[in-house]
Amino acid sequence: MQILILSGSRNREGQTARAIQAITKGISEAGGQSETLFLPELSLERCRQCDPDGWGLCRHEGRCVIEDDFSSTTDKVKAADVVVFANPVYFGDLSDSMKCFLDRIRRVVFFKMISGGRGASSEFAKPAIGYCYAGGSGNGTTSCSANLERILQICGFDVVDMINARRQNLDAKIPMLELTGRWLVTKPASGPRFVPPGR
Ligand SMILES: Cc1cc2nc3c(=O)[nH]c(=O)nc-3n(C[C@H](O)[C@H](O)[C@H](O)COP(=O)(O)O)c2cc1C
Repeated sequence: MQILILSGSRNREGQTARAIQAITKGISEAGGQSETLFLPELSLERCRQCDPDGWGLCRHEGRCVIEDDFSSTTDKVKAADVVVFANPVYFGDLSDSMKCFLDRIRRVVFFKMISGGRGASSEFAKPAIGYCYAGGSGNGTTSCSANLERILQICGFDVVDMINARRQNLDAKIPMLELTGRWLVTKPASGPRFVPPGR
């Protein structure tokens, strides 16, 4: 079981990293393997809108024209069984590196949607969780989490959990993050859509 953790913080000793350490502890205790990538350390340019209409090759060919770490990072996402998106809350929203990376994935996935139809299966159709940490006032996790979940779902991930923490309660959540790491090794999946009785 290979679990990829993407961090939107560059700080390997920081608070997002503390949560990642707890999750990886749980993963290894349950017999899984994990790799963590710190997105701000990678060469990940923001989209250049390489056509005048704001799109580019992504819309016509489903790939990105920029030659940086995007392709090798998306290959790792595709190869993983489960992906964790660990995001420090910036302005009540995704961190810049996380937004940049996921926006480029969204564009590439959009090609599949327009060429294969809405139901076209995504190469990213695998379990994922989002983790949002607010280290300042502690506010903004709810908006950040809602945005992150929506973006991940658009990319095709099966979002099996969204976890929020803030400076004031991170210590209390560490044991739960370790348990979450253990749980991820079971490769959890969303259940079938709820159908009301009689329909
Ligand atoms: C540009 C910016 C915006 C931020 N916005 C918020 C915010 O909306 N709410 C909050 O509680 N903390 C905010 N913070 C604090 C970060 O959440 C905190 O510095 C970060 O989570 C620390 O994580 P790290 O130790 O992994 O870097 C912001 C920090 C920066 C740099």
